[in-house]
Amino acid sequence: MVERTLSIIKPDATRRNICGKIIAMFETAGLRVVAQKRLHLSRSQAEQFYAVHKERPFFGELCDFMCSGPVVVQVLEGKDAINLNREIMGATNPVEAKPGTIRKELAVSFTENSVHGSDGPDTAREEIAFFFSGTEIVG
Ligand code: CMP
Repeated sequence: MVERTLSIIKPDATRRNICGKIIAMFETAGLRVVAQKRLHLSRSQAEQFYAVHKERPFFGELCDFMCSGPVVVQVLEGKDAINLNREIMGATNPVEAKPGTIRKELAVSFTENSVHGSDGPDTAREEIAFFFSGTEIVG
């Protein structure tokens, strides 16, 4: 089934100028970028986006990091896009990620893990709507 998922290229990756390298990994694996923008999140936008984690011990560090520099938010489209994106990214903790995945090859740490991707159809819908209006998505 053709799906859409939200992807964020995080500040550790924009800082190192490796967005193109990351996007190429998505495209090579069969995903298409159908919406994209570069933003500098405010602290409150980061807190809102990651609200589901607000009771977790890493929440403060995560939000500080996510507003420490620009991010690239994008909608990826393709067959089974949600799971395919997760496979291309690799495990959340780069130490556990498989070789060839973005996080294994490029991430810095658990927090500075280069990319975020929606974890299911409901979150994909919510996360896409958080950043994009319908007319900004051009398939
Ligand atoms: P992400 O996919 O953006 O979703 C939430 C983020 O929180 C996750 O990537 C990690 O960067 C971060 N995260 C999740 N668990 C931990 C943890 N145990 N320690 C530090 N950071 C974490």
